[in-house]
Amino acid sequence: MTLSATSVSPDVTDHSLLIFGASGDLTARKLMPALFALSSEGLLRDDVPIFGVARRAKTDESFRAEMREAVSKHGQHGEISDEQWAKFASRLFYHQLELDKSDDYGTLYERVTKAEAELLPAGARPARVVYLATAPQLFLPSVQNLVGAGFRPAPDERGRLRVVVEKPFGRDLASAQELAQQLAGLLHESQIYRIDHYLGKETVQNILLFRFGNAIFEPLLNRTHVDHVQITVAEDQGMESGRGGYYDQSGALRDVLQNHVLQLLCLVAMEPPALFQADQIRDEKMKVLESLRPGDLQDIDQWAVAGQYVGGAIKGEPANGYRQEDRVPADSRRETFVAMEVYVDNWRWAGVPFYLRTGKRLPSRVTEIAITFKLPPLHPFSTVECEGGVCGLVGTRANSLVFRIQPEESITLTTSVKQPGHQFQLEAQRLQYKYPHGLAEAYERLLLDVIRGDSTLFTRSDELEAAWRFVQPVLDHWESDSHEPEFYQVGKWGPAGAHSLLTRTGRDWRRP
Ligand code: BG6
Repeated sequence: MTLSATSVSPDVTDHSLLIFGASGDLTARKLMPALFALSSEGLLRDDVPIFGVARRAKTDESFRAEMREAVSKHGQHGEISDEQWAKFASRLFYHQLELDKSDDYGTLYERVTKAEAELLPAGARPARVVYLATAPQLFLPSVQNLVGAGFRPAPDERGRLRVVVEKPFGRDLASAQELAQQLAGLLHESQIYRIDHYLGKETVQNILLFRFGNAIFEPLLNRTHVDHVQITVAEDQGMESGRGGYYDQSGALRDVLQNHVLQLLCLVAMEPPALFQADQIRDEKMKVLESLRPGDLQDIDQWAVAGQYVGGAIKGEPANGYRQEDRVPADSRRETFVAMEVYVDNWRWAGVPFYLRTGKRLPSRVTEIAITFKLPPLHPFSTVECEGGVCGLVGTRANSLVFRIQPEESITLTTSVKQPGHQFQLEAQRLQYKYPHGLAEAYERLLLDVIRGDSTLFTRSDELEAAWRFVQPVLDHWESDSHEPEFYQVGKWGPAGAHSLLTRTGRDWRRP
C-alpha cells in the first residue's frame, strides 16, 4: 500500500544507513529486526552499507553476532539460517564513536564513504540516512558533528542527508522549540524525520484510507451524528527492564498522550486533504491540533486526570505499585495514567467530546478508537436482558464504529438487529473486518519511507509544537507542588476521577 502520491520505489536512490545508539534497546528490539525483515522481503538492497555507531568498543564481528541474536529474539522470522544471516550481515559494520566529540567524526566519514565506494554502484551519490536512536541530549551534538564532518550535502542535494529523530523531542514546549530552532540551523525541514512509531502501524494508516476511501461513513463523522469519541492506549506492562528511571522523568502525558494519542486524534478528526501528499496531510492534522480546546485552564482537574498505580494483582499475578518499581523514587508523584476530556472546536466537531486515556498496568494491552453515534430519535423497542439472575429492560443501543489498532486488529461496526423470535426485540450485532496475522512492524514501514524520502508518516515541526502547546498547561499544573496523582490499583481501568469524567454526563468508558 502506498500512502503518499509522492512515494517512489525504494530502489530509486543509492543510500547508506547509520544507526547512532547502536548498543541500545531500540536498535536490538526494533531497528535491526525491521532492517532484516525489509532485506528478506527484497525491500532493502543487498549493497546498502549499514553502520551501527555507539560509544562501546566492539568489532564488526561482535556487533554482527549481537545483532543476529537480537533479530532471532525480537524479529518475526524465528530461527535464521547461516546463509540468510550472512547475506544480510556482510554489509553490517560497527563504528566506535563518542557521539558528542567532533574530532571522532572524520574517521566515521572516511569509513562510510569507503564502504559506499566498495559496495554501491560506481559513481553513486548515496543518501545517508542517520537514525538517532540515542539519548535526547545527544541529538543536537550528533547533528552538529555530522554536518561539521562532511556529511552536509550541497543545497541542491539536500536529500543526501536525512536524519531520523526519535522521541522525546523536547520535554516541554520551550525545550521542544529550542531543539527545533537549533536543528533548523543545521538541517532543512525536509531532512528531519521526527518519528512517531504509531504512524507506522498498518491499522493507524488505515484510519485515513477507511475514512476517505468509503463514501458511506464520512458523512456521519461529525457533530450531527456522533455522540462522543474515546481513544484508548492501554498497557498492562509496568516499568520492566529498568524503564522506571526514564519514565519517572516523563510520565504518561509526555510519553504517550502528547504524541501517540494526539496523532490518533488528528487522524480520526481531520478533514480530507485535497491531495494525498505529505504536507497536505500534515496541514490538515495541524488544523486539528490548532482547534483543540482544553477545558477551563483555571480548573484543570475538571477535565484532566492524573493517576498512579498502587500494588495489587494483574491477571492473577502480584504486581508492585509504581513507587516500588526499580529506579522510581519512593515518593514519586509522576503520573502513570492520564485521562482527558477535550473538544475539537471546528465546524465538524463542535460540542463532541473526545475522551482520551492512556496508562500503564491497566487490565490489558489494547489501543483503539471508538466512535459512538447518537441514539435514534425515538426508542420504540426494548429488550429484556438478564445478568446474574436479575432481568431488566434495555433500550436501544447506540451504534459504534471501533478501530482496533492492536492487538486483534480490526474495524467493527456495531448495529442493532431484530432478535429472532416472536417479539420485537433488538440485539447488538457486529460487522467486522479482521486484519490478517503477521502485519509488518511499524518500524519497517517508517525506515522504508525515510529511504524513499517520503515524510508523510513523520511529524512536522509545527505539529509537534502544537501538541506541546496543548499539553503544557496540564504539565505545569501537575508539576506544581500542590498536585498529587490519584491512585488506582494495578489491573484496574485507572482512578475514580477518570470514570467521573464520563459518568457525569451519563456516558461510560469502554472496557475493551
Ligand atoms: C512508546 C512509549 O513510545 O510507546 C512506551 O515510550 C510505550 O512507554 C510504547 O510502551 C507503546 O508502543 P506500542 O507500539 O507497544 O503500543
